[in-house]
Amino acid sequence: ADYEHILTSKPEPTISLITLNRPRALNALCSPLFVELNDALRKADEDPEVGAIVLTGSERAFAAGADIKEMKDKEFSDVYKNNFLENWATMTKIRKPIIAAVSGFALGGGCELALMCDIILASPTAKFGQPEINLGVIPGGGGSQRLTHAIGKSRAMEIILTGRQFSALEAEQWGVVSKVVEEGEGQVVKEAVAMAKVIASKSQIAVQAAKEVVSAAYELSLPEGLRFERRIFHGMFATNDQKEGMAAFAEKRKPNFSHS
Ligand code: HXC
Repeated sequence: ADYEHILTSKPEPTISLITLNRPRALNALCSPLFVELNDALRKADEDPEVGAIVLTGSERAFAAGADIKEMKDKEFSDVYKNNFLENWATMTKIRKPIIAAVSGFALGGGCELALMCDIILASPTAKFGQPEINLGVIPGGGGSQRLTHAIGKSRAMEIILTGRQFSALEAEQWGVVSKVVEEGEGQVVKEAVAMAKVIASKSQIAVQAAKEVVSAAYELSLPEGLRFERRIFHGMFATNDQKEGMAAFAEKRKPNFSHS
């Protein structure tokens, strides 16, 4: 597809790589970019070959936030009537796992975008933050909730109230990112693609189910979440991939999943 603000490719037949590409604005997330991103994510989700998605930006910026120049003259009546940012949540409906490969700035909406992904890998250059307070506003793309879930109240308050950036190392210590990769151009994308390839080699049904139940841990109470997990787990016994996976183990061979 022809996009203006993003690039899409398949580094492997089973992997969709989406690259934010507004270099002159440090990948600021203007509305047309989000429309394209949602379209690319939906296409990857619908592509039967694709087992995992990698989302990245440039070496300098994953994304420096929502587009401040686009937002600055908006009025309450516009943003309320049009439910500004509503389409940001569309990506949380994607069923296949999304790995964020973050280098450089992931600020404001850029940090929130990474937090909406399922796994975050960071390069040592990554700089996260919620600087909205400096603009006289607050996070609006989920940061006050997802960051608080990820790092706890005291740290989230500090980050959101002071607007200071936090480093890749802090993000790793606080559990925001699963790993800080080695330094080097393109390294974080390379590792994200390698991780995506591992995930894409599993049963897609099991992967989607696993994403669904882990995601539910953010929405449900513990007893409800455990019940939900058990029901989904029982359901796995209706799949060919469960038969194949367990038979392969018993026969001491590699499973050949049919994603059915
Ligand atoms: C629009 C942006 C932008 C943004 C950078 N640019 N961030 N344009 N929206 N969020 C543009 C700059 O205006 C500039 O364009 C070009 O990108 C390069 O940026 P510089 O500032 O010259 O680069 P540098 O000096 O290296 O500083 C990098 C930076 C700084 C620290 C990341 O750009 C910055 O503070 N950006 C804003 C970060 C921010 O506040 N994000 C939160 C946005 S609010 P020109 O044309 O001048 O060269 C937000 C609200 C979320 O996300 C609410 C719900 C989503």
